[in-house]
Amino acid sequence: MKKIIFTVLAVFVLGVNHLMYSQMLGSNINLIPSPKSIVINDGSFTLTNQTKIYFDQYSRKVADYLSEVIKPATGFDLKPEIWNGMMETNSIILSLKTKTNEYGKEGYTLVINPFNVLIEANELNGLFYGVQTLRQLFDPYINSIVKVEGIDWILPAVVVYDKPEFEWRALNLDCCRHFMEKDFVKRYIDLLAYHKFNTLHWHLTEDQAWRIEIKKYPELTKKGAYRTYEDGTVYGGYYTQEDVKEIVEYAASRFINVVPEIEMPGHSLAALSCFPEISCTGGPFDVGTLWGIYPDIYCAGNEKTFQFLEDVISEVVELFPGKYIHIGGDEAPKVRWQNCPKCQQRIKDENLKDENELQSYFVKRMEKFINSKGKKIVGWDEILEGGLAPEATVQSWRGLKGAIEAAKMGHDVIVSPTTNCYFDYPVETTDLRKVYYFDPVPEELSFDERKHVLGSEGLMWTEYAPQQFVDDRLFPRMLALIEVIWNYPQERDFESFRQRVQNHYRRLDLLDVNYGLETKPFEITKTFNPSKNIYDIKVTQLQKDIDLRIGSFVSELMINKISENEFQFEIDKTNLVNIFFQKGEKKVGKTYAFGISFNKANRKPVKLSYPYSEKYSAGGIEALTDGIRGSDSFRGGDNTWQGYYGTDFEAIVDLEKPYTFNKISLGFFQASSSLVFFPQYIEFYTSVDGNEYESAGKVEIPSSLKDPDWIQRDFGVQLNDTYARYIKIFVKNYDEAPKWHPIAFGKTWLMIDEIIVE
Ligand code: ACM
Ligand code: ZN
Repeated sequence: MKKIIFTVLAVFVLGVNHLMYSQMLGSNINLIPSPKSIVINDGSFTLTNQTKIYFDQYSRKVADYLSEVIKPATGFDLKPEIWNGMMETNSIILSLKTKTNEYGKEGYTLVINPFNVLIEANELNGLFYGVQTLRQLFDPYINSIVKVEGIDWILPAVVVYDKPEFEWRALNLDCCRHFMEKDFVKRYIDLLAYHKFNTLHWHLTEDQAWRIEIKKYPELTKKGAYRTYEDGTVYGGYYTQEDVKEIVEYAASRFINVVPEIEMPGHSLAALSCFPEISCTGGPFDVGTLWGIYPDIYCAGNEKTFQFLEDVISEVVELFPGKYIHIGGDEAPKVRWQNCPKCQQRIKDENLKDENELQSYFVKRMEKFINSKGKKIVGWDEILEGGLAPEATVQSWRGLKGAIEAAKMGHDVIVSPTTNCYFDYPVETTDLRKVYYFDPVPEELSFDERKHVLGSEGLMWTEYAPQQFVDDRLFPRMLALIEVIWNYPQERDFESFRQRVQNHYRRLDLLDVNYGLETKPFEITKTFNPSKNIYDIKVTQLQKDIDLRIGSFVSELMINKISENEFQFEIDKTNLVNIFFQKGEKKVGKTYAFGISFNKANRKPVKLSYPYSEKYSAGGIEALTDGIRGSDSFRGGDNTWQGYYGTDFEAIVDLEKPYTFNKISLGFFQASSSLVFFPQYIEFYTSVDGNEYESAGKVEIPSSLKDPDWIQRDFGVQLNDTYARYIKIFVKNYDEAPKWHPIAFGKTWLMIDEIIVE
């Protein structure tokens, strides 16, 4: 039996200069997040079915976890045993050091030599992260859920000294806009733990749903957890208190603290739909179906509101053992408070200046109650407006301003601005590089103020992401975020990080993560060539290390690869082309589609009765007949949709000579939450001479304004060999948004492209 005295190694560990991780490239070691320091030695340790896993007096829990996570791939059933203090060969030892604290609560050392493996930490948290590092030092197949034959489970000889830079390493999972199954939440807890995150910020109440069972108010989940669309479809789900306990316990076993978010005073329509008496107007309300900011919020002048929220919080604090309760506080419009006698009376009675101070009163009052339960509040940066609650931690989302202001006042802050941390945003807006170069510590803070930066958080708002799309949004961007908040590299080299991400994809594949793209994947130009009557399409691939695929629905395309990342092809008939990406056989990211239409209106002049919006011009009037169809995003950078704001649409197309045709149609976009609606109806007229018009039909559009999905649809009329030169189309917009809409009475948009005559 080979014995090595550990203290000698420990001195060695602490004596080394901390290596930049990039210096290790070239070895097979590929850790995300990279550790604070690592030294690679010669040799390796091989795990066998004879390897012993040892725990000391307090570390059994992590030893059991290690045994459990390596069992499926290796097939080794290694039963952990109590350690006798000897450095036995062929052993993995998990030891809690109790005398020193240089690793902090979450730090660890990991020493691998050809004879044994030793993980040491002050607390179980650190041992757990040592185990996560160990997992990433094996072949990626260690993540397989089925036994893998023919692999030697080798660990390189290394000395790792590691601890996180920030203590708040979180994901905000919005389980309200879309409901996430309990097992899905647990899966995310595992993914977070694997990447050394330690906090799940669980967004549980919203306008569109109340998702946590409250025993005193069963209505909240009986009614408030479900929303009903106009066609009668019901969508929803909730977590019973037993579910919550199960999830919180599961998270604790992965050293993840769950912070519940109970929104107040805004984003509360689901609760108000159950208890309209605690709103300012008395309702009635339906659970929200559209995304946005609803004006109806809890009444701050009504004592019943506080009774309700205190009852809710009293049950919530019993379910979540961590010290923080997130109370939201964001996006609370003050319009109802301005017009509510009770709220105005409260402003008078409490000597408040305005509605901002009323919100501050609201939050301070709730903070006092939550503090009395032994907990601290976190709130979005709006809670600064009107005066910050004395003990509050501020989560800065609208840039860094809130974080700077709060930290300067001596408050703790979580820095998660939309620009770098909102992973519901498309990669076109927030790409991997942008996340990697994020610095959660604002320059404006002094050395002392910086200690108030607890850390950062990735945000997964799920308006446009039901459960099956969450991986695509969060990965790989969460990898860049954890690299920043665990390692906090002072010198950053994106390309070297990106190379590590390429290797990490093999692990994510085995963990069954449907990761998305790293950046805007391509540029495209579509140019009409009049001499050949074709569209010349050029695609330049921007994301590296991935296979670009081009497909089409109607006829095959001849694709020319003109350089390593440039593709060219022609389109000579109406077609729908799709562009997507693959890694091997695995599809990555969404499918981008665009249509080209060859029809009798192509490049024919159009006259408009009402102007289009300069904001959504689609490049000008020619866009309506340029043959290039609107894309799958009315806001997309490709600018293919023409918007009409608060007006109807009327166009006359001159075909320049009479034709016989059988169909006129027009493409529309609907995004109800953004006040982009399909029209009420469309009237079609034709004329031979441009003076006398004959009706060619009217199309009534059935309304589905409560549907929050983005929808593209063509509406038109079928004709019978109509002969005409001029076509007039009248499209009726809504006069204003309906009263239940979050932007009630606002002007509405028509988004149009393209006019098609066939
Ligand atoms: C937020 O995104 N409204 C915090
Ligand atoms: Zn009120």
